[in-house]
Amino acid sequence: MRRRVIAGNWKMFKTQAETRAFFAAFAPLVSRAKHCDMVIAPPFTAIRAAVEAARNTDIAISAQNLHWEKEGAFTGEISAAMLVEAGCRYVIIGHSERRQFFGETDESVAKKTKAALAAGLLPIVCVGETLAQRESGQTHKVCKTQFLDGPGTLTPEEFSRILIAYEPVWAIGTGRTATPEIAADVHKFLRECAAEKFSASPASALRILYGGSVKPDNIKGLMAQEELDGALVGGASLDAKSFASIVNFAS
Ligand code: 13P
Repeated sequence: MRRRVIAGNWKMFKTQAETRAFFAAFAPLVSRAKHCDMVIAPPFTAIRAAVEAARNTDIAISAQNLHWEKEGAFTGEISAAMLVEAGCRYVIIGHSERRQFFGETDESVAKKTKAALAAGLLPIVCVGETLAQRESGQTHKVCKTQFLDGPGTLTPEEFSRILIAYEPVWAIGTGRTATPEIAADVHKFLRECAAEKFSASPASALRILYGGSVKPDNIKGLMAQEELDGALVGGASLDAKSFASIVNFAS
């Protein structure tokens, strides 16, 4: 049985003060949630405030990006070891916004994933097709390439430590959620890609989160799909009550 993960990606939102206020409201609302792992990914500058606010809770902190080198002349970049020292347990890699606006490629995703794993972080590697790709029937092909050229380059041992997030680009921030059936179809397909590349056992243990307009009113339907091992939530994770009701989907 795969343990579910509900993760919030704050993107470029929240100052340190706003982060402290969020945790003060959110932590009591999820203190009895034992059915899933909880993760919050604040912007870099609020990571420390989040780590301190999450102390004595079951909420783990994630970064939203990293650089693959250990250190060097890379202005504006942050290494895996820096994230570990700041208290991160997870890191999101290859989000579609990074692919779209910051030139992230499957190759950089592969390098970042290896660097994250080497430092002991748990990578959440994002894949997903655009609307044009879905409408031209290329969803499986695009997801397979992103999978094979990213996570597919890992060793079996490395692969056993990652999570994947399926985030169809057309569903992100649009209010247009994939139906539970559409999401489950791609999750099942990605699991087949994993079984083909690695083997059946790591593929069946792989946790695949769905992301794209997850809200309190659609989380239950999404989580009713056995293929969906959790959610990566953007906008609805910024509000403590709304994100808590997503985390508490089962109650
Ligand atoms: P929204 O939930 O705002 O659609 O964002 C999804 C996302 O990109 C999470 O990483």
